Amino acid sequence: NLSAFGIMGMGVMGKSLALNLADTQTKISIFNRHVEGTEEKIAEKILVDNPGYTDIKAYDDLQSFVSSLATPRKIMLMIPAGPAVDEQIELLVPLLDAGDVIVDGGNSFFKDTNRRARLLEEKGILFLGAGVSGGEEGARRGPSIMPGGSREGYELVAPYLEKMAAKDYRGKPCLSYIGPEGAGHFVKMVHNSIEYAEMQAIAEVYFLMRYYLELPADRIAAIFENWMGANLSNYLLEITIDILKKKEDGSLLLDKILDQAAQKGTGGWSVNIALEYGVPYSGLAEAVMARNISSKKAVRMIASGMYGSAQLTGIEEAEPFLDKLQAAYQATRIINHDAGFSLMLEVSEKNNWNLNFSEIARIWTNGCIIRSVLMEELVDIFKESNRLILHHEAVDALKGYQNDLSYVVGQALQHGFPVPVLSSSINYFLGCITGHSAANLIQAQRDYFGAHRYQRSDKDPGVSFHTRWKE
Ligand code: 6PG
Repeated sequence: NLSAFGIMGMGVMGKSLALNLADTQTKISIFNRHVEGTEEKIAEKILVDNPGYTDIKAYDDLQSFVSSLATPRKIMLMIPAGPAVDEQIELLVPLLDAGDVIVDGGNSFFKDTNRRARLLEEKGILFLGAGVSGGEEGARRGPSIMPGGSREGYELVAPYLEKMAAKDYRGKPCLSYIGPEGAGHFVKMVHNSIEYAEMQAIAEVYFLMRYYLELPADRIAAIFENWMGANLSNYLLEITIDILKKKEDGSLLLDKILDQAAQKGTGGWSVNIALEYGVPYSGLAEAVMARNISSKKAVRMIASGMYGSAQLTGIEEAEPFLDKLQAAYQATRIINHDAGFSLMLEVSEKNNWNLNFSEIARIWTNGCIIRSVLMEELVDIFKESNRLILHHEAVDALKGYQNDLSYVVGQALQHGFPVPVLSSSINYFLGCITGHSAANLIQAQRDYFGAHRYQRSDKDPGVSFHTRWKE
C-alpha cells in the first residue's frame, strides 16, 4: 500500500500540486516539516480541510514519509528557493537509495541546480530541476512544467508530471524534458523575465490610457477586451481586465494599491545571465529596473514635489492614439519574446543543451503565466527560425508596427510619462536591424584612449589596428 509519488513542502504551490495529482487517482504522500512553536501539523491539516482525499497520506516525520513511498522513490520538493533546498536535500539523501528521484519544483537559480545535479549524481540520486509555472491556480488545475536534469529520472517521474500538467490545444501535456542539469530552471527563469516585461508593457499601456488619454478604468478594460479578440489574447492581459473591474466599496481597488512593485529575483537573475553571456536584453532588463525604481517611493515623492508631476493631461484624441498604442503593444511583445528566446539560444549553444525552442513555446501555450496566442504562433515560427525577428512573419508584423511604437514612445516621453519597456523595445529593435551602427566610433574612442585596437571593414577581420590618433 505504498504511495507512488511524494511531495514535500505544503505551501500554496505544493498543496495545489498535491491535490491536482490526487485528483488523478494517484496514491501520494505529502510532507511538511513540523514548524517550531505550532501545534498544527501542516500536511495533516490539508486532509482535514479537504475531506475525501483518501489517496493522500500526510506526514511531518521525514523517515515515515520516505518509507511510505514505493521504490524507486519519486519525490518532488516544493520549498522556497535558496539554502532551504540544500538543507532539505541534505536531510533527505541519507534516507534514499541509489536510483531514487528528487525533483526540485521551486524557482531555484539554475546554477544552484547545476551544482546540486553534480553532487547528487555522485550519490546515485537522479535529480531534476523543474520550472513550474502557473501560480496557485495553475498548480491546482494544470501548470506548465519545465524539467531538466537526469534523463533517466525524467522517464520515471514523467507519467506523474504529465498527469499534473496543463494540456496544450492538441491535448498534449505542457511538459517536456528541457535538457541536462539546470536547463529546466534556466528556461523557467527566462519565462519569468518575459513575464516581467509583459507585465510592465501592459502597465505602461494602461498608464498612458488612464492618465494621458484620461480614460476611465472600465473603458480601458473594454478596450483590452477588444484587444483580446484581436489576436492579442494573453493571460496577463486577461487578468488585467479583471483587475480594472475590481471595485471595493464602490471604487477601484487598483487605485488603493501602493505603487511599489516587489520581486523575488528571477527577473534580475536573467539580466545577470544576459550580461554574463553578452546577450542584448533591453526591454526585459528595463522591466526589472522599473520595479527597482518603483520601490524607491520615498525619493519619488520628494522628487515629484521638486520637479512637478508629468503633464498628466489628455491632449490627444483617444481613438487614433489607441490604434497606435495597440500596435506598439503588439510590437513590444514580439521584440521582448525575441530577446528572451535569444538568451536561451545563446546559453543553449554555449552549454550544448540543445534546447528545442518550438517545444518550449509549446509547453508555454497553456498553464503558464505568459501563455498567449503569440506563444501559439511561436510554436511554428521556431520550427523555421531560431531568431524570431528574422522570421518573415515577424518581419512583416514589425514593419507594420514600427512607426506606431516610435510615435507612442515619442508622445509618452514628451508628455512626461515613463515608458521604459516600450522605449527600450524600439531601441533594441532599431539597434538589431541596423546594418551600420555607431559602434565604429566606440571602437575608435577605445583605441584612442586605451590602444585597444580595432578591426577594419575594408581589411581582413582577423587583423587588428592601432592608430596614433593625435598625429
Ligand atoms: C509563474 C510565476 C511564479 C511567481 C514568480 C513571480 O510562472 O507561475 O512566475 O513563479 O509568480 O515567482 O515572481 P516575482 O515575485 O519576482 O514577481
